[in-house]
Amino acid sequence: MNIVENVSLKPYNTFGVDVKANYFAEVETVDEIKNTIEWASQNNQPLLLISGGSNMLLTKDWEGLALMLHLKGIEITKEDAEFAFVKVQSAENWHEFVLWTLKHNLGGLENLSLIPGKVGTAPIQNIGAYGVEIKDTMFELTAFDLHSEELRTFSNQECNFGYRDSVFKNEFKNRFLILDVTFKLTKKDHKLHTSYGAIKAELEKELISKPTIQDISKAIIEIRQSKLPDPMKIGNSGSFFKNPVLPLAQFEELKMKFPTISAYPSGDFVKVAAGWLIENAGWKGRRIGDAGVHEKQALVLVNYGNATGKEIFDLSQKIIEDVFLKYGIRLEREVNVI
Ligand code: EPU
Repeated sequence: MNIVENVSLKPYNTFGVDVKANYFAEVETVDEIKNTIEWASQNNQPLLLISGGSNMLLTKDWEGLALMLHLKGIEITKEDAEFAFVKVQSAENWHEFVLWTLKHNLGGLENLSLIPGKVGTAPIQNIGAYGVEIKDTMFELTAFDLHSEELRTFSNQECNFGYRDSVFKNEFKNRFLILDVTFKLTKKDHKLHTSYGAIKAELEKELISKPTIQDISKAIIEIRQSKLPDPMKIGNSGSFFKNPVLPLAQFEELKMKFPTISAYPSGDFVKVAAGWLIENAGWKGRRIGDAGVHEKQALVLVNYGNATGKEIFDLSQKIIEDVFLKYGIRLEREVNVI
């Protein structure tokens, strides 16, 4: 067990915010997890789990122990003629894992190409893009229970997935460390999701009429790179807010006032594009110090260099208040504010 004192968390969060943790440990086995947790509890150091750091906004120093899991590996645990069950350890990079599935011609994750972060945190917020969510292919996961110090398997259903939501954001918040995730992927007759307008346009541009899962992945990488900032160059954590889901009647009223509003049906509700609300409230491309609203995608807040987590948080608060004033809709943050 190697616990280091006074460590900057800047390299471990994609916003690139420079805060310190009193203590930092990287662990590779369940025994190391147990020892480290016991040390933290004996020394009264609250735990902060860091994974890819791609969905967190650190607003202050962490007066406790920051713990990073370093479990690596990908294996096919079971397969038949149609499906392969692939078990991935939590510290594998999400996009590299997606590329691995494409190399093995396994279908189901191609629309989730280029999402930043690691495999272990993907189920927490049920990552999603271009009509697909992790809940569509996740079979089960193994997690370490910080209360009982035992391992528990969660089936897909037990994760209670919703839009950017799961049990791990609600009743089990901060209780489980996800160690590995198993996906059920198709080996043939892949179910393609190409109805999203931007994907169709990208495939047409490349003159592809019968796309493979690899073609779809390439198209999505192209789309994402054209409008989402690369966290290696400009700090960000993808969409900062969730798209608000409104009852149809409330949406109809809004549409009367704002006829160009961008929205999609979502069951009996309507999912409104928060990017549209923010852009049309005049925030796109605005900057306060080093904290800003991305110039190509208003749903993404960015750190142009030395913004503090508090400055990014304050900018998000201003946006929430302004959007509420203009449209009567209260935006919810998608990122985890710490
Ligand atoms: N829009 C604007 N202005 C903007 C941005 C968007 O008017 O600055 C409008 C446009 O009409 C556009 C619509 O919003 O057609 C939707 O925009 P986009 O396709 O970029 O998707 P999004 O709703 O902004 C969601 C997810 C993304 C995911 C994309 C693609 C959420 C919170 N975000 O964004 O996920 O990649 O759809 O499926 O649901 C993430 O969660 O970090 C993330 C990037």
